[in-house]
Amino acid sequence: MRRKLVVGNWKMHGSRAANAELLSALLKARPFGGDVAVCVPAVFLNETAATLAGSDLRWGGQDCSAHEQGAYTGEISATMLAEAGCRYVIVGHSERRAYHREDDALVAAKAQAALARGVTPIVCVGETLAQREAGDTEAVVKRQLSVVIHQLAHCASEIVVAYEPVWAIGTGLTATPEQAQAVHHVLRAQLQAATGHGERMKILYGGSVKADNAATLFGQPDIDGGLIGGAALKAADFIAICRAAG
Ligand code: PGA
Repeated sequence: MRRKLVVGNWKMHGSRAANAELLSALLKARPFGGDVAVCVPAVFLNETAATLAGSDLRWGGQDCSAHEQGAYTGEISATMLAEAGCRYVIVGHSERRAYHREDDALVAAKAQAALARGVTPIVCVGETLAQREAGDTEAVVKRQLSVVIHQLAHCASEIVVAYEPVWAIGTGLTATPEQAQAVHHVLRAQLQAATGHGERMKILYGGSVKADNAATLFGQPDIDGGLIGGAALKAADFIAICRAAG
């Protein structure tokens, strides 16, 4: 049985005061039945590490550079994330793909850089509304994932995958549990065929997961937890979602 994982993606939200309040509520709400992590803005990583150190809560970044080091102003390397104690880093989030023109090859290179430093990449895939309406959902997510699998070769089984339909992110529109399960099933079959370890790999669902829909989503056979945006910023909501996972 795969252990569930719930990851909060804070995006560009937070402040020292708000983070302290949120993290202390999470610490008090433990233990959870599954694994829980927060991916915070990079400037808050050290404080988050100091607050969560010694607990079973994990933390991570929201992006990393594909490069090891060098003249890349504004970028953060996987080595830096590892030094800040990050267990995870989100790569290929649809907001990065859309606003920073990240393509599949760059996402794959970032995943590889993270793995090389012992940071688990949470690789996001997902279709737009137009792609879903055109019947291209499976082809799109399989293409996105295949580039990563190909690049990582024998290490591909070390990633976490997050299926996030772009039309469901921050919109209040959630994929139905059946729609999400169908895509997760396809992704697991792809992972199994490529790595032989698909059955033990985690595939998270993201896109308007809330306290009231989390349990049904997480109850699907191929949904191993969630990547949570808006609802990860409110302690009560995030805690309820974490509890729904375990
Ligand atoms: P949302 O975001 O939960 O606010 O839809 C999810 C995500 O972007 O990871």
